[in-house]
Amino acid sequence: MNQPDKMFGVLVLAAGKGTRMRSKTPKVLHLMLEEPILYYPLKSALDAGFGETAVVVGYEGEAVEGWVRENFPESAIIWQREQRGTGHAAKLAQEWWSAYENVLVLAGDAPLITSETLKYFAERHISGGNDCSFLSFTLADPTGYGRVITENGSVRVVEHKDATEAERAVHEVNSGMYIFRAAALASVIDEISCQNAQGEYYLPDALALIAARGGKVEAVHADDAEQFLGINDQIQLANAARIMRDRIVLSLMRDNGMHCMDPSSVWIGPKVKVGRDVTIHPSVQLWGETVVEDGAFIGSFTVLRNSVIHENANIKGSVRLNDSTVGPRASAGPFSFMREHGELLENAHMGRFVEIKKSVIGRDSKVPHLSYIGDTEIGENTNIGAGTITCNYDGVKKNRTKIGSNCLIGSDTMFVAPVEVGDEVSTAAGSVITNRIPDGALGVGRARQTNIEGWSNRRRKKQSDGKSRS
Ligand code: UD1
Ligand code: CA
Repeated sequence: MNQPDKMFGVLVLAAGKGTRMRSKTPKVLHLMLEEPILYYPLKSALDAGFGETAVVVGYEGEAVEGWVRENFPESAIIWQREQRGTGHAAKLAQEWWSAYENVLVLAGDAPLITSETLKYFAERHISGGNDCSFLSFTLADPTGYGRVITENGSVRVVEHKDATEAERAVHEVNSGMYIFRAAALASVIDEISCQNAQGEYYLPDALALIAARGGKVEAVHADDAEQFLGINDQIQLANAARIMRDRIVLSLMRDNGMHCMDPSSVWIGPKVKVGRDVTIHPSVQLWGETVVEDGAFIGSFTVLRNSVIHENANIKGSVRLNDSTVGPRASAGPFSFMREHGELLENAHMGRFVEIKKSVIGRDSKVPHLSYIGDTEIGENTNIGAGTITCNYDGVKKNRTKIGSNCLIGSDTMFVAPVEVGDEVSTAAGSVITNRIPDGALGVGRARQTNIEGWSNRRRKKQSDGKSRS
């Protein structure tokens, strides 16, 4: 939405504890698809074109503030040390929202609101010339919500705990999302009282106060109740996560042609990017800032976090990648684990029961079986034999291994780091490599085999002699 300067400020209320989460973590930092609940309303506001936001923090506010500063650095922070209600939270933010023509108030614990609804809501507010607009919706079971009471052409909200039997019978409820003309809110904010069942300052009381002064208050009714679901406990959190998961996965299938035979078992976070012609098998999780480029395949039971899968890469299944990169046409799995900026370059391969940490595996190189490769750089077209390990840790610090290009590393080679081997190097199977191997050489670091002739017969004889004596 294109808006003139200072037309809208967005105030997100996030100071509450969320007692029913039964957790020390403040409610808005609980994770939904591995991003805090608070991420979602802030993101929807930004996507709708509202650039200026402020977050009211309180309970465990240092943690909430820290997360906001890191993830939405443009956002202002307003402290509400004591949580005395939504009206009190809005009052403490008055200096901030007074700089705007209008203030959009969102709840930090309602993550399903979409940017489309916010845009529509703002347009209705402006075109209606409203002093206050709020989003309402209809619920079969409205228990707990503020009821929208319309009488004699005016509208007000009564909280569930303060409502009469007749009022409780109303199914239209307040979403907790409002747009106030800032001047209208300023004119009534000091009149909100805490004479009610909860002894709190209720922001929805501003509606009736504005109407009483002749202001125009409009309930903007939305059909899609799902968007307003608030999160108050772990069950609602799981339910909202499932709804968001469906939205993300189905939109990738619809818009990017993602091929997915069992969408209900695939979990993709809101920041993940997926290209064209990507196939995702059942039971896959893609989290954080993961990117999956065109033509990639992701097999079952794979979990990717903050990782990049380049085009046409093949992640065969049961692979776990954290902060790592798989190059074009490279492959991983089944059963591989890469972390801390591991990198497979183009057409490289990591195979069965392989762990790679903070290492680069060069183009066309392979680590096919049962290896640990840490703090290592491997050149191009090198083959690492089964069971090879880089011994990178000496008990004090991590040391580096460097392996050149076109090498043939024998099975079960131990590279005792720091150690460096050149190009076209081979190692004998079972070698412990502690010194440099120059280009083109074979490194052998093991005891020479000796055979003891006739040993088995002699042992058998010894055993039977011993038995006959006893
Ligand atoms: C609120 C509305 C209710 C509406 C419902 C929709 C009030 C009084 N009632 O009720 O009409 O139907 O939302 O979900 O507003 N918060 C603060 N500081 C506080 C209190 C709350 O920042 O002192 C924050 C909370 O963290 C939360 C949001 O405001 O994100 C809503 O507060 P909550 O206590 O959950 O209000 P409800 O009882 O759900
Ligand atoms: Ca709530």
